[in-house]
Amino acid sequence: MTEIEQRMAELERLGLQRRLRMVSGPQGPRVLLDGKPVLLLCSNNYLGLADHPRVREAAADAAMRWGVGAGASRLVSGTMTIHRRLEERLATFERSEACVLFGSGYLANLGVIGALAGPGDVIFSDELNHASIIDGCRASRARVLVYRHADAEHLQWHLTRAPRDGRRLIVTDSVFSMDGDVAPLADIAELAEAYQACLVVDEAHATGALGPGGRGAVAQAGIEDQVDVLIGTLSKALGSYGAYACASETMTRYLINCARSLIFSTAPPPPAVAGALAALGLLEERPHRVERLNWAARTLREALAREGFALGASELHIIPLVVGDERTAVRMCHEAVEHGVFAQAIRPPTVPQGTSRLRLTVMASHTERELRRAAQVLARAARNQKLDLSLTARGPNAAGQGERAAEPARELQPNQPFDLEREESMAHAA
Ligand SMILES: Cc1ncc(COP(=O)(O)O)c(C=O)c1O
Repeated sequence: MTEIEQRMAELERLGLQRRLRMVSGPQGPRVLLDGKPVLLLCSNNYLGLADHPRVREAAADAAMRWGVGAGASRLVSGTMTIHRRLEERLATFERSEACVLFGSGYLANLGVIGALAGPGDVIFSDELNHASIIDGCRASRARVLVYRHADAEHLQWHLTRAPRDGRRLIVTDSVFSMDGDVAPLADIAELAEAYQACLVVDEAHATGALGPGGRGAVAQAGIEDQVDVLIGTLSKALGSYGAYACASETMTRYLINCARSLIFSTAPPPPAVAGALAALGLLEERPHRVERLNWAARTLREALAREGFALGASELHIIPLVVGDERTAVRMCHEAVEHGVFAQAIRPPTVPQGTSRLRLTVMASHTERELRRAAQVLARAARNQKLDLSLTARGPNAAGQGERAAEPARELQPNQPFDLEREESMAHAA
């Protein structure tokens, strides 16, 4: 057996093996999954814009007008008029002085974090931050202090004790991708100001999904002026691909000079940029799509609760059904697919060990009937796995959240090699 084969056998033994499932046709509310018609309940195409006729047309026109690829990085010859146009539109949308596009949300986090922290600096990172933030922290080679999830007191505890020489950077998701809850942004912004730390907020799952006109959780909290860099992706509610960082003029110029993932990667393709421009136009013209998404989230949450599922406090479009065990989550996913509902099983290292789950996401284009039926299918699948539905809000093994006592800093070592077991125990979301 080769080392790779051994590794794969180990993943299978742990119930952690993954495989690619094939969706035929566009990313609509209903898709053909490996040839079988299912309700799609795990896509980030929240507003249903990925296959909207106007978005498709804009991308197709752009391909004819500007071609498919940008040909080079932004700093060589890859910056085209269409990039600049989207940057201006996004800056206006986010009420920001300036904006700069990146190839993806993953690249944006890698580049922004690496530009704002390095050896000798300290990064403060929520324990459930997205993998791209974790990787950005690691690649930066700064000292990383991980604070308890959404716990501003614990963040402050770290801030008071961390060395004061060097730069300080606080980084957080606004809406957490696997839990659907919102960071205490106003408290975090206050701490950033009090402790002279730079604040980066990743709005990947918030843009287009909450806040005034779908402008996200930062706008909802009214702290636009206190965030140094706001990161958003074009790949979720905006239905395309690519990402952006909104910041001051000076900061964006700095990122253009220092963010390695912008400097050393090809500029986003014109059709994706044009598609995002059209999607942004639709969001601005018809913000009721956001209300419709919120309605869909409420409808599914109510239907799940009626079936007996315990749900967390959040009211947003991401609904985790935490089942705990990896294999149980996979079996529940398979059974739901058999009955026409696709909600992917999410396991470590994407979520902490013992909190494997079905991560449900609604779309503005789902109907009430579909969502109610999905809740019934999921409840039946859960019961067939002998699950206690009253524990699915945080899972049978999830650590208690009530305790708020200070504890020693948990540190992420710079340049740590990828290690699955360690990832699991780190309780860091991806
Ligand atoms: C919070 C967060 N940030 C960044 C990303 C990466 O974005 P992209 O898919 O555009 O690379 C994701 C993707 O799921 C995410 O959840």
